[in-house]
Amino acid sequence: METVFVSGTLPGDALDVLREAPFEVVQHEGGVASDAFAACADRVRGLVALLTDRIDDALLARAPRLAIVANVAVGVDNIDLAACAARNVVVTNTPDVLTEATADLAFGLLIDAARRISEGDRLVRAGGWQRWTPTFHLGAPVHGMKLGLVGFGRIGKAMARRARGFGMHVGYTQRRREPEALERALGATYVASLDELCATSDAISLHLPLTPESRHLFDAARLARMRPGSILVNTARGPIVDEAALAHALEHGPLAAAGLDVFEHEPKVHPELLARENCVLAPHIGSADRPTREAMSSLAAANVIRMLQGQPPLTPIRPA
Ligand code: GLV
Repeated sequence: METVFVSGTLPGDALDVLREAPFEVVQHEGGVASDAFAACADRVRGLVALLTDRIDDALLARAPRLAIVANVAVGVDNIDLAACAARNVVVTNTPDVLTEATADLAFGLLIDAARRISEGDRLVRAGGWQRWTPTFHLGAPVHGMKLGLVGFGRIGKAMARRARGFGMHVGYTQRRREPEALERALGATYVASLDELCATSDAISLHLPLTPESRHLFDAARLARMRPGSILVNTARGPIVDEAALAHALEHGPLAAAGLDVFEHEPKVHPELLARENCVLAPHIGSADRPTREAMSSLAAANVIRMLQGQPPLTPIRPA
């Protein structure tokens, strides 16, 4: 029987489906760093990986029979794709099934950051709420704001659809401009220059993968170009933003607030961000509604089963 290693507990019936395939399923919370993985590495054929697993050439060398790495995430920055390609290991991810959940969370962070909801919650719990006054706990308007989307893939477009309901003006930037009919349908305007989008948006939301080009795309210089009083939302990957520079921009301007679901060194958060009241912090839960996580797990399991049974996987990553 072929062996499949699963890096942790999956919601739903993905594990049963793998066992019924039938495969020998070895599962361990410690992922590929665990002794359980080490003990079966020489025979493992399929790996259901989490974004907390680092899949590099050294790991692949320990698993010579590995045919597929099925990541339970849309982002694959935890995987050395070139090393996988060189060793003929197929990599899959979980696109589509998490699009709406992630856009929901990004939109939630945007509203929270603008209207200071979490900050208000802390204040109420601490007994700091005296009375209603016209100047108490003022934030930024959400409806009608100019929203700049950096990356306009599935999740960026789902943000644009939500923004319409709030009467927002949506600009987006990415390498390739979308067809005009699609822009019209989503009410989104292409802005070729990222700096221009930053300078003209009330809020910027990040929806691009982490690559060598996007690492620290939002560094001190770029953050300084953002509009005074504006908001940054990051549900993509932490290292796209320089956290020390972000903390500085939140304290000294130009940013009024930020909403973050991802961090440079998860689960650690930069101490200066922890100290900022105007920074909403979420524990990487973009896709964490139950049906979405079940669908991601099922998709990863289906990719492994198809691959090991000689069929093409459903959502392969094509090496660049
Ligand atoms: C989560 O961060 C994902 O990439 O799916």
